[in-house]
Amino acid sequence: MYEQVSHSLLNDILTEIEVEIKDANLQYFYTRLGANFYAIYSLFHQLYGRRDDFKPQLHQLVKVLIKSYIARSPSLRKLDLTREKNHNWFLDQQWVGYALYCKEFSGDLKGLQNKLSYLQDLGINVLHIMPILDCPKGKSDGGYAVRDFKKINNDVGTIEDLDELAANLKKRDTLLVLDVVVNHTSDEHAWAIQARAGDKKYQDYYYVFDDRSMPDLYEETMPEIFPENAPGNFTWDATMDKWVMTVFNEYQWDLNYQNPAVFIEMVGIILFWANHGADVIRLDAVAFLWKKIGSTCQNEREAHLILQLMKDCCQVTAPGVLFIAEAIVAPVEVIKYFGEDAINAKECEIAYNATLMALLWEAVATKKSTLLNYAIRSIPDKLDRATWLNYVRCHDDIGLGFDDNDIRLAGYEPTLHRQFLLNHYTGQSPDSIARGIAFGTNKKNGDARIAGSLASLAGLETAIEKNDLAAINRSIDTILLLHGFILAFGGIPLIYYGDAIGTLNDQAYLEDDYKKNDNRWIHRPAMNWQQTELRAEKGTIEQRIFSGLKKMIATRKEITAFADHNNRELIVLDNPHLFCFVRFDGTGRYPRVLVICNFDHSEQQLDISSLRKLGLLQHNSVKDLFADESLDLSASFINIRPQGMYWIET
Ligand code: GLC
Repeated sequence: MYEQVSHSLLNDILTEIEVEIKDANLQYFYTRLGANFYAIYSLFHQLYGRRDDFKPQLHQLVKVLIKSYIARSPSLRKLDLTREKNHNWFLDQQWVGYALYCKEFSGDLKGLQNKLSYLQDLGINVLHIMPILDCPKGKSDGGYAVRDFKKINNDVGTIEDLDELAANLKKRDTLLVLDVVVNHTSDEHAWAIQARAGDKKYQDYYYVFDDRSMPDLYEETMPEIFPENAPGNFTWDATMDKWVMTVFNEYQWDLNYQNPAVFIEMVGIILFWANHGADVIRLDAVAFLWKKIGSTCQNEREAHLILQLMKDCCQVTAPGVLFIAEAIVAPVEVIKYFGEDAINAKECEIAYNATLMALLWEAVATKKSTLLNYAIRSIPDKLDRATWLNYVRCHDDIGLGFDDNDIRLAGYEPTLHRQFLLNHYTGQSPDSIARGIAFGTNKKNGDARIAGSLASLAGLETAIEKNDLAAINRSIDTILLLHGFILAFGGIPLIYYGDAIGTLNDQAYLEDDYKKNDNRWIHRPAMNWQQTELRAEKGTIEQRIFSGLKKMIATRKEITAFADHNNRELIVLDNPHLFCFVRFDGTGRYPRVLVICNFDHSEQQLDISSLRKLGLLQHNSVKDLFADESLDLSASFINIRPQGMYWIET
């Protein structure tokens, strides 16, 4: 659509800018800017149109886009064009992710290059290096309290090291995922320092108040995110003599996106990392981007407008780059982070599927798929050109944010059921061997989340201590079942570092003054490279998990039906321990794959006739791709192994 006002404004802006940038080859930039400018203008106007400085701010934004484009390397520009042509590239089943802390995994960025073959051996081709930017020691929130958005933390290396790593990853066809912490900065960031020194310009980068009157109003409806360590959402700053909004830790100052200068700075930062080779940018804590009195200050409409605007800007300068939304919120809310379009993701192309993750842990604890079955139906279908990030564990805690209604439908009382799960995973119920710990206990409402490594939550730590072979086997089966699930379900599976070798809880954080107050460090250990060697020794726990996972990954990559095109149908079975779904090829044709999981510790029977009525399993002999063996279906039922998983071609 040709829209006069925005286009004549764009002409004015470009005339001024062109004087500075005469020689650059900007053909593609101009095409993209022309195509996206009306959307950019409209969103910027919706957010900031009432301000007197609207025009100069928009001018500044376009300048950032153009300068970032000029700084973009020819090879990245070429990649942009390739991805524009094949725009569904990221929905392919070939992608398998891995998230790690650089320091804990490999010491530093140079060391990480030496470990790439380990990751490739497993089949990884999407590498999420968790935040590596400069943070104050001790007040870093695991890298999520950034002091300088354009500097790599001295501990892990330099920007040249990252460039080298990015180039190495490109050669290996591995995607690089980097974080941009968009919601807040460290209180030692230059903006915060200037704000503290009394500079009004920078005080306006944050939510700063003279007295408690506004903070008290906000607090009426804002929940607490870290109730144990950082109660409340505001912190008194004695130097500034003011209150500042700090939703997470008191040293993490929330950025004020009501100020367009903040938005423009952040777009510049996103494009800076895109230009340093990030294929995917993980936008941290996006649900919190807009604060409004009288609301929870999460999932506000303007937070979505900001993300849409960020996407449009990125599409002009670095269209090959994708966004991941880290929004750990209810399914009806999380789906909105893909954007409002019917087909294309106009905000973030990828979103964390925290609901699925928590449901999987629920199924493991109850040994039943009842809640999983109800609640998965509450996750709305994603857009065609968007995908989930499916994971079992990550660097954060496990929240039990299931919908109360779904819990009731599954036959449980919500409060009691959450308590049961918490007791189960913190090892407080007599029949549980899980070894998690409660994280973020809120004494006011009794809520708590769960921390702990995958293997320890799956019972491996206790089983090893007791030298209980049967329990060890069950823990390994749990680990493989959970991973098999996320590899088959649809979306990009993301494996957490250490989980492929059954890494247990790490108590070392208790000895570290900087870490001991945040027990999520129990599952952020230093990678034990000696232990990884055991993956080559037949029969070891490490070998059984690693080789099982490696085989599943390789198999996933060959099954086109596992690409993510909303090509899944859930099948309800009478047996509450089993969970079943069919994946079909994007075209709706063969081969289809029937996925069956048994969450129980004993063998379960699956009645074949009910599946045959649905047109599945028509032949008497079928292939299980998971175990790479034939299954005899001449009887009227199949026996499904305890905690077994099947990927049956049908
Ligand atoms: C995200 C991170 C988490 C961090 C929080 C605040 O949720 O995943 O680790 O504590 O943001 O930055």
